[in-house]
Order: sequence, then structure tokens, then C-alpha cells
Amino acid sequence: MKKTLFLFIALVISIQFIPTTKTNPPVDEKLNLNTKSEVLKVLKKSCYNCHSNETKWPIYSNIAPFSWFVISNVKNGRKALNFSQWEDIPSDIKIKRLQRAIKTTNNDLMPPAGYLKIHDYAILSEEDKKIISEWFKLELKKF
Ligand code: HEC
Repeated sequence: MKKTLFLFIALVISIQFIPTTKTNPPVDEKLNLNTKSEVLKVLKKSCYNCHSNETKWPIYSNIAPFSWFVISNVKNGRKALNFSQWEDIPSDIKIKRLQRAIKTTNNDLMPPAGYLKIHDYAILSEEDKKIISEWFKLELKKF
């Protein structure tokens, strides 16, 4: 029993030395999303940690194995939709993401439920949902 515990602790310590890469690439103001402040406020509160280059990395993202999970989540989130590169997203992709964003907002699919358990400040109120889904619809009208 003691031996198992010792091995477990040794394992937890050793995985801390596996290199990880938490990046916040520089934000290019020419590409960055720039819109009404009430919209930006909601997006920054609830979406930017995974969908921008302005991730506020939580403390637990320094500790393996949680760090691996957070880093891959942010990587996939940015790949799907990155508000820091908003002006650079090709029209056909932007249309799809905006359509999905309306659905994910109305169906409480984003932010992911597991994330909201730890980050309750990111929960969208009914008012927040209205603000961003109306903005997504307005953006769609540009196409
Ligand atoms: C904890 C990280 C996280 C947060 C916070 C988050 N997302 Fe996501 N989001 C992801 C990940 C990861 C993906 C890509 C994988 C997937 O589709 O599940 C994604 C995908 C998406 C997509 C693309 C879905 C598709 O099927 O094309 C949209 C749209 C989206 N998110 C909108 C939002 C909006 C709007 C918010 C804020 C209200 C938000 N997300 C907050 C992690 C996050």
C-alpha cells in the first residue's frame, strides 16, 4: 500500500516535468474583433478564454495532468473560432461559425458545461444570450 502511494506521488511529480506550451500569440489589432462594447464584454467574460489569443490561464493550468486538458481545449477552441483573428476568417467559414454560435448560445452548449462548473462567472445570463445571439445574427446579415 505504502509502495503504491509512493509510486503515485513519484508519478505525479515526474509528469510536472513534461514540457507544455501555453501560448498567448500577440493580438494584431487589424484582425482583432472590434465591435460594440456590450457585445465584447459578454464574449470576453464567457468565450475569450478558449476562443481568443487573450486566454487568462487558470492556476490549475500549471499542474499536470490538468494542464494537458486545458491546453488542448484552448488549442481546439482557437482552431474552431478565434476572435483575435476575426477579420481574417474566410467568409464561408465565418458564416458557418456564426450559424453554429447562434445554436450553441440558444441551446446552452457553449461555454462547455464542465468549464462552467469551475468558472461560474462565465455563465451566460438570459440578457447575455440575447446580446450575443442578436449580434451573431447581425453579423450574418453582412453576407
Ligand atoms: C472552455 C473552453 C471554451 C469556452 C469558454 C467556449 N468554448 Fe466554444 N468551443 C470550445 C472548443 C474546444 C471547441 C471546438 C470543439 C467543439 O466543437 O466542441 C469550441 C467550438 C465552438 C464553436 C464551433 C462549433 C462548431 O460546431 O462549429 C462555436 C460557434 C463556439 N465554440 C462558440 C462559443 C461561444 C459563443 C462561447 C462563449 C459564449 C464559447 N464558445 C466558449 C471551447 C470553448
